[in-house]
Amino acid sequence: MISDLRGYIEYLSKKGRLVNVRAPADPELEITAFTDIAGKANKYESKSLLFHNVKGYDIPIVTNLFGSTSTLNELFKEPYINELLSGIKSQHLDIIKGAKAMLSAKPKVAKSNLGNYTKQESLSGLPILKVWPNDAGKFITLPMVITRSPNDGSLNVGIYRMQIYDETTTGMHWQAQKGGAIHSQEALEKKKTLDISVSIGSDPYNIISAVAPLPHGMNEFVFSGIARGSSTILMENGKYPPVPANSEIIINGYVDPVEKRMEGPFGDHTGYYSIPEECNVFHVESVYMKKKPIYAASVVGYPWHEDAVIGKFLLEYMKPLIKMANESIIDIFLPPEGVFTDLCFISIKKRFPGEAKKAMFSVLGLGQLSFTKIIIAFDEDIDIRDQSAVMWALSTRIDPERDIQIIKNTANDTLDHTSNVPSFGSKVMIDATRKGKAEGYNREWPQTIFMPEDIIKGVEKKWKSLNH
Ligand SMILES: Cc1cc2nc3c(=O)[nH]c(=O)nc-3n(C[C@H](O)[C@H](O)[C@H](O)COP(=O)(O)O)c2cc1C
Repeated sequence: MISDLRGYIEYLSKKGRLVNVRAPADPELEITAFTDIAGKANKYESKSLLFHNVKGYDIPIVTNLFGSTSTLNELFKEPYINELLSGIKSQHLDIIKGAKAMLSAKPKVAKSNLGNYTKQESLSGLPILKVWPNDAGKFITLPMVITRSPNDGSLNVGIYRMQIYDETTTGMHWQAQKGGAIHSQEALEKKKTLDISVSIGSDPYNIISAVAPLPHGMNEFVFSGIARGSSTILMENGKYPPVPANSEIIINGYVDPVEKRMEGPFGDHTGYYSIPEECNVFHVESVYMKKKPIYAASVVGYPWHEDAVIGKFLLEYMKPLIKMANESIIDIFLPPEGVFTDLCFISIKKRFPGEAKKAMFSVLGLGQLSFTKIIIAFDEDIDIRDQSAVMWALSTRIDPERDIQIIKNTANDTLDHTSNVPSFGSKVMIDATRKGKAEGYNREWPQTIFMPEDIIKGVEKKWKSLNH
């Protein structure tokens, strides 16, 4: 059982998925360049990097923690949530698995262990990265930001970039639709400040859960407990929200929702620098560090990076939920080059006229998938992960006037710099399924060419025996 970040690093090392970098590495740009090379070399199976000799700092940095799909599949191999869902659906719930999921769901809050941490008043000494050359400065790249709803006390955890303004002030780049921003809005309505705890470096279940696009109100620590198969252990943290008891570094502070400051530009996962915008400001009140802490960081930019691996994994992990809400969807895929929010492919088994559009509308109404800018529906015979099949269907199954719809004036992803106004623009929906008479197609849709399997197999044998 992996109980913390160190246990996870050991696990990666045993699996041969960790590179120990002992040469000096500068947190300004060099660590990005190392991580970039590792990510791009092996795409869905890249190695994590542990920098032992960080220029100017005593604290080692670990990056690309989630570059390997195999690791994520091994860790999250028992998808209890999926078991529960399929059990409910088929009415054959595996009682033992279901009970285990229930038991592991509830986080346990232990007494504070902060006495064993070293306390300081500012961020000084933390090896915070400057990631890309034209970034506005340094930022904390992988913080688990924990907020508590001023309305009902529920917790939210999300990873949101924190720009360093000075040693006690940072940005808090939560997008308007995200959990932290919703809590900040609630605090604004109550004319209160929002106490926040930030955890850097925890076990992989907690970090991945903070990224997972869970419905607002669902506690990420419940999700991580279910995924781990044992309760998440939190610890009390005074007036701040409880934090994972295995955190390497904890930062406590507050956001005053009325206070805004320009944030960015920062090289983002879109492959562009973000356009500077006003965002909330976080005031640091105390920082706690484990003895000899390890600083966890992430690098995003022009694809390819670990966010592509995390995104693909999470979509697969949560596919049963998506399919439950949209029963006609057979598969869903976000090509990494579509930067998660810009391009979405679905395949469906069409049973009635217009069902492709119905399925696309449902995706556009679903949580963070609603940010999707371009969505394309294919028939079930198209493997939507095969670029060649996708291009072929796109070219041979659409009549542009009939099958392409532009939806104007909708909410869009904040990071989409193409719309005239931030977070507000248009979407395109393409129905690349075969059309029937009931959909206005008054011709006979041609058959797809295929050769029977037995003929292919027979000829393959003969082909191999030919001397060529
Ligand atoms: C490395 C990394 C950096 C991220 N940075 C941000 C960010 O700056 N702002 C943001 O809103 N989401 C960011 N995200 C995505 C959120 O963490 C993700 O959407 C998560 O589901 C948000 O949780 P929430 O729905 O509880 O707010 C980032 C994700 C990763 C993996």
